[in-house]
Amino acid sequence: MPRFDTQKSKPEVPGFGRLPRHVAIIMDGNGRWAADRGKPRIFGHRRGMERAKDITRACGDLLIESLTLYAFSLDNWKRPKAEVNALMRLLVKFLNSELEEMMYSNIRFRAIGERGMLPESVLEAVREDEETTAQNTGLNLNLAVSYGGRAEIIGAINRLLEEQRQGSLLSGLIDEKMFAQRLYTAGQPEVDLLIRTSGELRVSDFMLWQIAYAEIYITDVYWPDFTREELYGALKDFEGRERRFGGINAEKER
Ligand code: IPE
Ligand code: IPE
Ligand code: MG
Repeated sequence: MPRFDTQKSKPEVPGFGRLPRHVAIIMDGNGRWAADRGKPRIFGHRRGMERAKDITRACGDLLIESLTLYAFSLDNWKRPKAEVNALMRLLVKFLNSELEEMMYSNIRFRAIGERGMLPESVLEAVREDEETTAQNTGLNLNLAVSYGGRAEIIGAINRLLEEQRQGSLLSGLIDEKMFAQRLYTAGQPEVDLLIRTSGELRVSDFMLWQIAYAEIYITDVYWPDFTREELYGALKDFEGRERRFGGINAEKER
């Protein structure tokens, strides 16, 4: 009997004229969602985890290449110990319960962030998911945990310095391509669509390099309410955006 069930059917997805290759999401508002219901913050995080599963599934069904989910920032270590511990336990639960789905949906999983700070229980689950899904060829799911954009950039610089010390850098000068290859997202497309839930108008140290020309979609909806339909709404919005990358739209100027 196969270890993973591959017989489930896929839901119908709407057609889009143009889809982002890489979607990155700042999953924010779990605490406020719970507070609105008179519940502890972790109640919101739990519901948020369900949404992360739904959105991963939806991106897989839509044949999107990469999805990066911001689950826990480097700065989130500042939160009360009880909340941090609860989030770490939730992460392990997510990683264990999603593996079967990832195998079924051909998803390649990677955790991105500063691993040194993560508890062994999380590291173990991360390793298992990364190793088991390593040969999958569908959606790249990057889960940003203990992640900081500035730290990622500094890490890439240090990697380049180390390669230079060891004499493995071909040229003394670096360019954007070489730099991007030392980021966690090496080999994946740049972020086309950045979504932030809960209405905050900031980036909070997320994917600072990769979002250079991302289209930004901000919704007031709290993450625990961000369903598949909300994602379709964001994709519909993206479909209508005019991306210029610093150029001009010659058609429209005439
Ligand atoms: C996002 O929700 C999840 C994490 C940052 C771990 P928050 O916990 O930030 O929820 P709000 O922003 O306080 O509502
Ligand atoms: C960003 O949300 C981090 C995650 C969603 C994991 P925060 O809630 O930590 O960001 P700030 O504090 O509002 O900027
Ligand atoms: Mg928040």
